[in-house]
Amino acid sequence: NTRFTFCMIKPDAFKNDTVSDILLEILKAGFKIRGIKITMLTKAKAEEFYDIHKGKEFFDRLTTFMSSGPVMAMVLEKPDAVESLRKLIGKTNPAEAEEGTIRNRFGTDTTHNTVHAADSYEHAEREWSFFFSKREIY
Ligand code: CMP
Repeated sequence: NTRFTFCMIKPDAFKNDTVSDILLEILKAGFKIRGIKITMLTKAKAEEFYDIHKGKEFFDRLTTFMSSGPVMAMVLEKPDAVESLRKLIGKTNPAEAEEGTIRNRFGTDTTHNTVHAADSYEHAEREWSFFFSKREIY
């Protein structure tokens, strides 16, 4: 179903107090929030969530950071949700992200890049199932 995607606001946004700005950008872009929660990942849970990056040079940096503070997990609805959200957040490295994108405006570096967005519909479903039960998505 191409109407839904998964988004996660990362610990740096909580630290920099940019969570509300990021949420506003997402809502202004026309996304509807169908599920939302604040939680904290353990190191083991972060490693499981990002297991496709296991073995990469940045894996430990990424999972240590992602378990260093709260995250906000969301199921978002909009037509062509995956493509639309990835366009809104911009490239992984905030320095390379297009002007006006969320990572460009609020990100610091490739690790501290404020948001995660699913890169496919298959991954989106896997990722929201990681955080939400069926009854927590409306
Ligand atoms: P995200 O969308 O959460 O998916 C995987 C994450 O790995 C990515 O955002 C970055 O934060 C991180 N990442 C990807 N490439 C690098 C890299 N070269 N160095 C550090 N972190 C990276």
